[in-house]
Amino acid sequence: MRRLKKTVVMVGMMGAGKTAVGTAVARALSVPFLDSDEEIVKAAQRSIAEIFERDGEAFFRARETEVLARLLRGAPCILSTGGGAFLSETNRKLVQEAGVSVWLRADLDLLWQRVRHKTTRPLLRTSNPRDTLRQLYEARVPVYSLAEIVVDSAADLSIDDMAAKVVAA
Ligand code: S3P
Repeated sequence: MRRLKKTVVMVGMMGAGKTAVGTAVARALSVPFLDSDEEIVKAAQRSIAEIFERDGEAFFRARETEVLARLLRGAPCILSTGGGAFLSETNRKLVQEAGVSVWLRADLDLLWQRVRHKTTRPLLRTSNPRDTLRQLYEARVPVYSLAEIVVDSAADLSIDDMAAKVVAA
């Protein structure tokens, strides 16, 4: 197993491919892969949608910070985060101290194509999910741009192409 010095933290919008690309990067480098959403679900024994519905977004965000802090204290790995994780200054500090952030940048149309048929994302359960995604995108891009490394996605790039770009970066 290759030794990573720091945890590589994948950030970016829903549909950017953080989990798929992060998994492929971990495989390419033979290092462990972890996903903060998955850890939250495991601990709560409920889906993300159920957590939002039953406990509210603030509860989810608090769990997200706890999980990030815990995982960033552990051995270096590839860590995929939920699309809102990097928005919190506390979370960004945790990432800055113990990891290296990689923003998977994708344009709004590509993100929409990827998320439009999925019903698992509570933030997009609105009367106009396309517009909600645009609003989130516009509000979040300035924050994602604080990431240390930016890797551009494109419709014609496969997951392995993207993983190779991340590894190179
Ligand atoms: C969220 C993105 C989701 C999940 C939750 C909130 C967000 O993760 O953490 O629904 O605020 O953008 P993905 O980015 O993996 O969809």
